[in-house]
Amino acid sequence: MSEKLSDIAQAMVADGKGILAADESTGTIKKRFDSISLESTETARRDYREMLFGADEAMSNYISGVILFDETIRQKAADGTPLVEMIRKAGAIPGIKVDAGAKDMALFPGEKVTEGLDGLGGRLKEYHELGARFAKWRAVVDIADGLPSFGAIHANAHALARYAALCQVNGIVPIVEPEVLMDGPVASHDIDRCYAVTEFTLKEVFQELYYAKVDLEGMILKPNMVIAGKNASAQASPEEVAEKTLKVLKACVPPAVPGIAFLSGGQSDEQATHHLSLMNAAGPLPWKLTFSYGRALQAAALKAWGGKAENVDAARKAFTHRAKMNGLAAKGGYSSELEQQAA
Ligand code: 13P
Repeated sequence: MSEKLSDIAQAMVADGKGILAADESTGTIKKRFDSISLESTETARRDYREMLFGADEAMSNYISGVILFDETIRQKAADGTPLVEMIRKAGAIPGIKVDAGAKDMALFPGEKVTEGLDGLGGRLKEYHELGARFAKWRAVVDIADGLPSFGAIHANAHALARYAALCQVNGIVPIVEPEVLMDGPVASHDIDRCYAVTEFTLKEVFQELYYAKVDLEGMILKPNMVIAGKNASAQASPEEVAEKTLKVLKACVPPAVPGIAFLSGGQSDEQATHHLSLMNAAGPLPWKLTFSYGRALQAAALKAWGGKAENVDAARKAFTHRAKMNGLAAKGGYSSELEQQAA
């Protein structure tokens, strides 16, 4: 009965596969639905997720796991099948977002700390019974004039480590996500500032994971790529993003970590795919490198769906295309020619 954490972690980063982040909170999914002028009802949210998880080709070939939101892990498809069951049948692993969101940090103006540790052990036990075998906790680090502070990075790293330890004692693989934002309120920093802040953040996170006795073989890291802020006048080339991201990861992430699954963070769909592919093509690497994208996997499908049942096939096709391109990128085999051919 006891599944090894390291086996689950390795399955999450299986060759040519990555993670679908479909754990938008009620507030975030409302924003996504606003973009297609759809009211965010519980049924609409279910229909949308059912559209994604029912894309058999994408789910069985390119998706290793799906991060769910609390509401979604309890929902059933229109025919009564639990959504968790749809994911499992496709051969993917259900996961769950367990943080309670990034909240203003007391005495640290402009900075946030992620909450949700109280009662987390009990919630993890319930999520395990509901089928989750991995979890996600996201910390955000914003770059602005004089920010981030050491205090905020430290508080977030400490919370990530406490969360990861609680996951591991409950048979759940923690995805540890310290996100240095590229799309914060200012976001005018250059790529080298992103490098410095990412390096500091990752060093702090791995130090706290060590103090918390977290087994690195039973976790997945979900970092940002090293990239300029979205409002920066100087944007780095894809080659520079790939080179600097690999450099910081090699400097900070021990090889005991089985896999690194990036967030997309506001990159365009094709940028996120291209960057991942360039990094994998520069291997061999000490860990698996793959995707755990939300927006960069879903944007095209959401648009094609538009909230209408008659568009489900077209939306699944759009999702499958993106998943396939990212699956290729996870092996370093993506190219813009393939993108055009398959589109
Ligand atoms: P994006 O890929 O849209 O950044 O989302 C990934 C995620 O799960 C952020 O927590």
